[in-house]
Amino acid sequence: MSTSFAPLKNDTFLRALMRQPTDYTPLWLMRQAGRYLPEYRETRKQAGSFMGLATNPDYATEVTLQPLDRYKLDAAILFSDILTVPDAMGLGLSFAEGEGPRFANPLRDEKAVRALQVPDLSSLQYVFDAVTQIRRSLDGRVPLIGFSGSPWTLACYMVEGGGSDDFRLVKSMLYDRPDLMHHILKTNATAVAGYLNAQIEAGAQAVMIFDTWGGALADGIYQTFSLAYMREVVKQLKSEHNGVKIPSIVFTKGGGLWLEEIADIGADAVGLDWTVNLSKARAKVGNKVALQGNLDPNVLFAKPEQIRSEVEKTLQAFGKPAANSGHVFNLGHGISQFTPPESVTVLVDAVHEISRSMRA
Ligand code: CP3
Repeated sequence: MSTSFAPLKNDTFLRALMRQPTDYTPLWLMRQAGRYLPEYRETRKQAGSFMGLATNPDYATEVTLQPLDRYKLDAAILFSDILTVPDAMGLGLSFAEGEGPRFANPLRDEKAVRALQVPDLSSLQYVFDAVTQIRRSLDGRVPLIGFSGSPWTLACYMVEGGGSDDFRLVKSMLYDRPDLMHHILKTNATAVAGYLNAQIEAGAQAVMIFDTWGGALADGIYQTFSLAYMREVVKQLKSEHNGVKIPSIVFTKGGGLWLEEIADIGADAVGLDWTVNLSKARAKVGNKVALQGNLDPNVLFAKPEQIRSEVEKTLQAFGKPAANSGHVFNLGHGISQFTPPESVTVLVDAVHEISRSMRA
């Protein structure tokens, strides 16, 4: 399939990921399309459910563009969810109103694990259609990010059957039956790599792997059960499409202590949560990968002056960008549904203004 899209008008985000000079520090926000925006809640009501939004490319396009119409963000992220992949594996995803995700058929015994297969990518065609339609609607405004969950983070939901406070079921399987856990992770890694490559072919201009629960693992276990499989995924990613470089970002929430190891798996950028000191992180790995992050999302509940001051601290912590370094401003995790939308205006303007003045 050959698709041609409008040339990019703002490539600041991609340049920062590739550690090339930029006029200012680009930013986007994890979960930038979502419930904190009244227009999102309105569209979601029309669609009936979260999956109603995600499986309809018209709706997915509409909500992807909503935060860009309000704020001068430097990237768009596909509106979808990491759990579409296990859903396509037959686990039966649902999102009950006001609750987290649920799988009707979680992986609880050997029989279920052995039956797990890499899904036919045609069952995820609605995602790739959304990617192409969003890219077309963006018309070159900013780049489009595709994404997936990490093999381990997907396994957490697949075994637990939903969110968890203690990861008792998935960790029991990991310690009791590491063979079964490796079988799940290997299957997930193949599925995730194929899924991300299909998003790239459909029009994604950068890809991000969300390892939300890697930080729940013990040292040594993280490397074997999460990081190794992300390395497998990154190795299989198309690094170029139609002659254009497609940068990759890996984000392990709570992964700060493993920064050097994460920076070593071949991704172009590493996402950081708010526990990490950006200055130290840059000194350790900043000439090898770009860094993305890492404002505490709860800063957005403070007054405008405090938001500006915390933004400035984050930008100063990374420091003045120099040759061969790159910083993409983001939150350290997803934006809260309770965030006042006006706070995001303050944040976006502060990042742009202050980072420009730091380059002068
Ligand atoms: O960032 C974006 O704007 C793009 C869309 C996106 C969503 N989920 C939409 C969504 C992305 C990148 C995700 C990733 C995701 N999903 C992760 C990894 C990142 C992270 O936040 O840690 C995880 C762990 C999930 C799983 C998931 N999806 C949960 C636990 C929930 C329910 C809890 C919650 O925060 O709402 C979802 C639902 C979900 N995914 C919503 C959105 C906008 C809310 C759905 C609604 O409208 O009710």
